[in-house]
Amino acid sequence: MKILVTGGTGYIGSHTVVELLTEGHEVTILDNLSNSDKRVVDRIEAITGVRPDFEEGDIRNKDTLDKLFSDTAYDAVIHFAGLKAVGESVQKPLMYYENNIAGTVNLLKSMGEHGCKNIIFSSSATVYGTPAFVPITEECPKGTCTNPYGWTKSMIEQIMTDLCISDKEWNAVLLRYFNPIGAHESGMIGENPNGIPNNLMPYVTQVAVGRLKELGVFGNDYNTHDGTGVRDYIHVVDLAIGHVKALSKLKAGSGLSVYNLGTGQGYSVLDIVKNFEEATGVKIPYVIKPRRAGDIDECYADPSKAEKELGWKAERGIKEMCADSWRWQKNNPNGYDD
Ligand code: NAD
Ligand code: WQD
Repeated sequence: MKILVTGGTGYIGSHTVVELLTEGHEVTILDNLSNSDKRVVDRIEAITGVRPDFEEGDIRNKDTLDKLFSDTAYDAVIHFAGLKAVGESVQKPLMYYENNIAGTVNLLKSMGEHGCKNIIFSSSATVYGTPAFVPITEECPKGTCTNPYGWTKSMIEQIMTDLCISDKEWNAVLLRYFNPIGAHESGMIGENPNGIPNNLMPYVTQVAVGRLKELGVFGNDYNTHDGTGVRDYIHVVDLAIGHVKALSKLKAGSGLSVYNLGTGQGYSVLDIVKNFEEATGVKIPYVIKPRRAGDIDECYADPSKAEKELGWKAERGIKEMCADSWRWQKNNPNGYDD
């Protein structure tokens, strides 16, 4: 298939492009490089032996989109482009609503006008808010998000739902990711956050590589087995493969589908520290800090719907996730700047 991947030089996008190319799909990446590096395209080529087309541009620019869709009859779009920093979204809500929501509406309009009505969207377990129950199934009611970033995901899901109701030619797959970590086993692509990382695994790997002194563990009085927060960490390559499998749902008449992409297994912050140390032999000093605003006790998926309907199941375990995150960080201590 011919696939347009928005946000394709980013963390999850780049791993998905690798899997798409490996399966023989033709890929164009559209990315404005606001949170990624063009050298990712070279790395993707080095891994797969195929160079994806790359267009530097913004999903908010309708002319850019119209030109892409006029030049090529894409079978589908995989839509990763978006801003994702939770704390920043609280400080700059309009920037998030504009980039994520206005950008997505723009994309959907251009797609519709050019007859490309198949889309896979990067949603998030954040749409469940404080989940009504765990493990979380897709039937779990969506909740109150604690930040504008989360609301952009929830609102875009609603926009795509309404679009599929209004026009039966549209097929949309909403993939609700749990906590992606890890990196391609080559160690050539991986997560490359700007500044001090907000998320747990990049913080851990930067402590391991000596860029940061120690990990702050945000709270040890949660209602979990050791008091620290429990999440469903999923290897980014498993997540990427989930997108390739989801392409099979983009058939005439499918309409809207929703899947959790997680492993079904929860790990606490201290479990992650322990597994990282065991997998890499590197010690992670940590201190207990107060809770972080908006955090919940535990969040993990029931991923059985994706297995039943897409034939997809996460295969990579926590040790592999830790080892692969570490290989990427160790080989690229300054990201793509080496
Ligand atoms: P990322 O920041 O690495 O990738 C996003 C990419 O989109 C970047 O390359 C960025 O430059 C690009 N981009 C942003 N705004 C754009 C615009 N207006 N036009 C064109 N390109 C633009 O993030 P990621 O971790 O790879 O996440 C990919 C998607 O998955 C995002 O939509 C994110 O919200 C979602 N998601 C991520 C996580 C996670 O924990 N990483 C979890 C759930 C959902
Ligand atoms: C995991 C656990 C922290 C950092 C976020 C977004 C969510 C989704 C994925 C996009 C929690 C603890 C963390 C640190 C710590 N993104 N922690 N010290 O909060 O589950 O999810 O990323 O959709 O929307 O909210 O992930 O990696 O930030 O935290 O103790 O320095 O690690 O308290 O228990 P989270 P995370």
